[in-house]
Amino acid sequence: MADGRPRVGVREYVFTDQEGDGEENREALRVSIPEVLDFQYGMHVWPCAVVLAQYLWFHRKILSCKTVLEVGAGVSLPGVVAAKCNAKVILSDSADMPRCLQNCHRSCEQNNIAGVPVIGLTWGEISPDLLDLPCIDIILGSDVFYEPKDFEDILVTVRFLMERNQHAQFWTTYQVRSADWSIECLLYKWNMKCRNIPLAIFHADKQSLAGSDLPGRHSVQMLIITLDMEAANTPA
Ligand SMILES: C[S@@+](CC[C@H](N)C(=O)[O-])C[C@H]1O[C@@H](n2cnc3c(N)ncnc32)[C@H](O)[C@@H]1O
Repeated sequence: MADGRPRVGVREYVFTDQEGDGEENREALRVSIPEVLDFQYGMHVWPCAVVLAQYLWFHRKILSCKTVLEVGAGVSLPGVVAAKCNAKVILSDSADMPRCLQNCHRSCEQNNIAGVPVIGLTWGEISPDLLDLPCIDIILGSDVFYEPKDFEDILVTVRFLMERNQHAQFWTTYQVRSADWSIECLLYKWNMKCRNIPLAIFHADKQSLAGSDLPGRHSVQMLIITLDMEAANTPA
């Protein structure tokens, strides 16, 4: 940053089909993600992002008719993979972090998906940009549960989107950093429920994924959060 401009490096991720009947028939997706060489949240790909991107790649066939919003996208690996798998994608990061929003734009340009909208969306804030969103089918959040003070704000944003589409799903990966952190009470409070998705189901139980060693020994978990219809429709 000596001349005031961020130093940007580009990392490549290659997602491949594990089940094709021969190497030559296997589908593959190559995406390149520019990362700012600066150790801050939202400036580079986090291990959780590679796992969530692998989940999207594994389910790529169902993405083409879906509208997908990534929250806290940072450099947006999952969102870029979803867009490359033909989902209609919107990327977002905090409205107060213009450098992260710039990273979202940079990742889109790098992968020839410059038409993907990027918006400022701060968790817990009901902003005009949030109100203007179309009906969202899938919300993506990779490593957004890292500061317990933000957990409820994230879920409030997700819940707001689920009010508009009761079948929306929140696909999220998180890194186990403390055994004391939990979102269970908050899910109960906001009439939501979650399902743990074992990584082995989508071939993500590996230290190296998509040609990247990022998952390494980090303990990453994948959850699908949905509205608890029964609880939501029961009068208090
Ligand atoms: C640990 S980083 C994860 C980035 C990216 N999802 C990944 O996994 O590579 C957390 C992200 O959340 C964003 N963020 C932090 N606070 C936020 C808030 N209040 N509202 C929206 N985004 C926020 C940060 O800017 C950052 O991009």
